[in-house]
Amino acid sequence: MNTPPVASESVLLHNPLFDPAKRWPAPDPAVWAFHRRMPAYLATTLFDCPGLAQRYGVGRVLVKAETQRLGLPSFKILGASWATYRALCDHLGFDPEPWLNINDLARRISYLKPFGLAAATDGNHGRAVAFMARLLGFHCHIFVPAGTVPARIHAIQNEGADVTVVDGDYDAAVARSAEEASNRCLVISDTSWPGYDVTPRRVVEGYTTIFMEIDQALRAAGVGEPDAVIVPVGVGAFMSATVGYYRSRPWKGALIGVEPADANCVQVSARAGEMTPVPGPHRSIMVGLNCGLPSPVAWPKVSTGVDWMIAIGDERARQGMRELAEAGVVAGETGAAALGALAALHDDAAAEEFRASGLLGPDKTLLVLVTEGATDRGNYQAIVGRPPEEVGTILSLAR
Ligand SMILES: Cc1ncc(COP(=O)(O)O)c(C=O)c1O
Repeated sequence: MNTPPVASESVLLHNPLFDPAKRWPAPDPAVWAFHRRMPAYLATTLFDCPGLAQRYGVGRVLVKAETQRLGLPSFKILGASWATYRALCDHLGFDPEPWLNINDLARRISYLKPFGLAAATDGNHGRAVAFMARLLGFHCHIFVPAGTVPARIHAIQNEGADVTVVDGDYDAAVARSAEEASNRCLVISDTSWPGYDVTPRRVVEGYTTIFMEIDQALRAAGVGEPDAVIVPVGVGAFMSATVGYYRSRPWKGALIGVEPADANCVQVSARAGEMTPVPGPHRSIMVGLNCGLPSPVAWPKVSTGVDWMIAIGDERARQGMRELAEAGVVAGETGAAALGALAALHDDAAAEEFRASGLLGPDKTLLVLVTEGATDRGNYQAIVGRPPEEVGTILSLAR
């Protein structure tokens, strides 16, 4: 594969807070059992990418493509759906089992109506909550920060939700959404605040389905566990699910988190030894990762369970998109960050210490988490040089 040279702007940290003795409870199998009853549930594809393995000098590069998940173009629906279900159980005061599928569940709890869900979002989470509300026959109110691109707003409205643009940033949208809580409306936030952390924890729990599917696919293919897993990090909720899963057992592999260069709040916090804000503006094209403070719910797992943290520039994300396209995977800017990180780990002077760890050897299997499909057709074509339809299957692309 012929890759053009790219700017070396990455910053690497071998996490000083990593604790190899730390173990977390085994994942709850009820999460996957729940997702399997969602409409059109299918495990997402785990791609084996020999071209990428050759390019990076490793035995295997596996790409888990969360580019189409339960009818939406990102992994976020896994967290939103499970958190909504658990919040509903709490609201009802009982678990409405046994139900066969979401339609059946919706029928069983239809007496709650009129009933609604609310959330704040800068994109994927809000759309996922709106999607869940539609399945359950509830109304939905989503709050977005000022400046949210119209395509993202329309995608949420297309799920039937009311969208309010809050005059302020993401935190202002979160604060506004919290005001919606009532006995007729559940707030499904993936961000915690004092007194509200149960639902954000369940959002994290919901992501474990991804790792259960990966294990199942590896077992079926007779392939061993990965030696390293590369995960995009915004506030760290997804990474905390990764830590919770892999660090619940005596796995010897390494977890690697990737952030944008100017929104590397997890890396800066790990270096400082405590949660530390990285003030904006955060202007990366990896918009889902433009976060200035780790999630307090995620921090205990992320701080102790991640081995390496790398902050990369946008050109690495673009490179990741192009290389994934060659492997037939349509990934957007945020979605491709983990492959961009692999390029930086392989090529950048700043990653010398990582290369010395031996994780890029010919006997190693690397697992790359691609968390989002193409979100903007124009940008995709400008970066990859081909429209997404020519590269692979796409879903719900904003026009
Ligand atoms: C596509 C995508 N990938 C990764 C992330 C990072 O997840 P987290 O904020 O839980 O670290 C996000 C967050 O919004 C996202 O939208």
